Amino acid sequence: MATVPPKIKVLFSGNERLQKLKEAFHGKYGQEPLFFACAPGRVNLIGEHIDYCGYAVLPMAIEQNIVAAVSVSDSKTIQLANTEPKYKDFSVSVDGLSIDRENPQWHYYFLCGVRGIQEHLSLSSLAGMCCMVDGTIPASSGLSSSSALVCCAGLVTMEACQKALSKVTLAETCAKCERYIGTEGGGMDQSISFLAEEGTAKLIEFNPLRATDVRLPDGAVFVIANCCVEMNKAASSHFNTRVVECRIATKMLAKARGLDWSRLLKLGDLQKELQVSLEQMLELVEELLHPEPYSREEICKTLGISTEQLCEDILSANTQHATDFKLYQRARHVYSEAARVLQFKAVINMHFNFSSCTLLVKNLEQLRLLKAGAVGSRLTGAGWGGCTVSMVPGERIDSFLQTVREHYYAPDARRSALEKQSLFVTRPGGGAAIFIEE
Ligand code: GLA
Repeated sequence: MATVPPKIKVLFSGNERLQKLKEAFHGKYGQEPLFFACAPGRVNLIGEHIDYCGYAVLPMAIEQNIVAAVSVSDSKTIQLANTEPKYKDFSVSVDGLSIDRENPQWHYYFLCGVRGIQEHLSLSSLAGMCCMVDGTIPASSGLSSSSALVCCAGLVTMEACQKALSKVTLAETCAKCERYIGTEGGGMDQSISFLAEEGTAKLIEFNPLRATDVRLPDGAVFVIANCCVEMNKAASSHFNTRVVECRIATKMLAKARGLDWSRLLKLGDLQKELQVSLEQMLELVEELLHPEPYSREEICKTLGISTEQLCEDILSANTQHATDFKLYQRARHVYSEAARVLQFKAVINMHFNFSSCTLLVKNLEQLRLLKAGAVGSRLTGAGWGGCTVSMVPGERIDSFLQTVREHYYAPDARRSALEKQSLFVTRPGGGAAIFIEE
């Protein structure tokens, strides 16, 4: 059965955050909010940069989230404010929802969600609304604060229009509409934000979108540590370059195997088409692609297309000027990472113990965190900064936190000032929901 996000009655006297948000809303707009919409951030446990290739990923929602207090009116204006003063107020007519990709400011993510739902429901126009947004997810840190904002806005719009959409539809719509800001994400962040359930990570599979519980080992605790290097994926072309490289690799491999390459976009679709295992796909990558970056000329020559066709049909708007493409590295990463997700799930399901987990992760980059007591540690999210996630046995947690504090945060004044919101223990949180005051 298609489930919709829950509508939960909350006693505000016992909820300091919602009470404060309600007061801030009143202070700003001089009225009471009608409802609150909440969407969580996420940490991806394994399966990075493969969702946009069609492969399953394994994230969990975190307790940090975005909450919006909302009132609805017939003003035909959307008014946005944020409890964090650095995010400035914004107001726009419902008939002029344009999104500036060159300038990915906070309110444009909100407008992505509004527009996505409006288009999905084919609403010719919207009523007006006043929103006050409050977020606890550190921004640009790989914990998906931007997607949580898009999802929150999507949920706000659905509720403000008094419609009911399933979690799956909301997730798919919000994944699509985040592309209005320019990034070609794969849908993991929006899916877990809507489909998460407290106490469990989820294996998220695509096409069709579905989520399966993955019970995490008893006694395992996840620690998130933000390296405090921020990266807004819409503000640079790093992210889309990877997406485009995977797309070109798909086409080059398909062409080499005599397939109709022009209709294939994802490395996952290519595997389906060839009906072979991930291991066989890896062999194919070794055989058919070279490790040196590919130039535009080489790609165009192999595919028999012009540079104009490459730019128009294959590259994204912000990768039009890219000259070198790492096809071998991307394809190899995708097929091996897709296999690691399945391996992780199998180990967890069958006979999890910490030593088997150590085997899975011993080659990972975060060796220092392993030394500090983690059994597994990795960068989460898009990368180029952001957070590490470490799995730590409960009894080692205090010494682990202490070591990370001493070695990473304390020696640097800026990081040290950010430590409180940067280093925290988390457990799998619930998905997006509407709150109404009881
Ligand atoms: C970002 C994207 C996701 C996913 C990750 C990398 O968070 O939004 O879709 O591609 O990066 O795994």
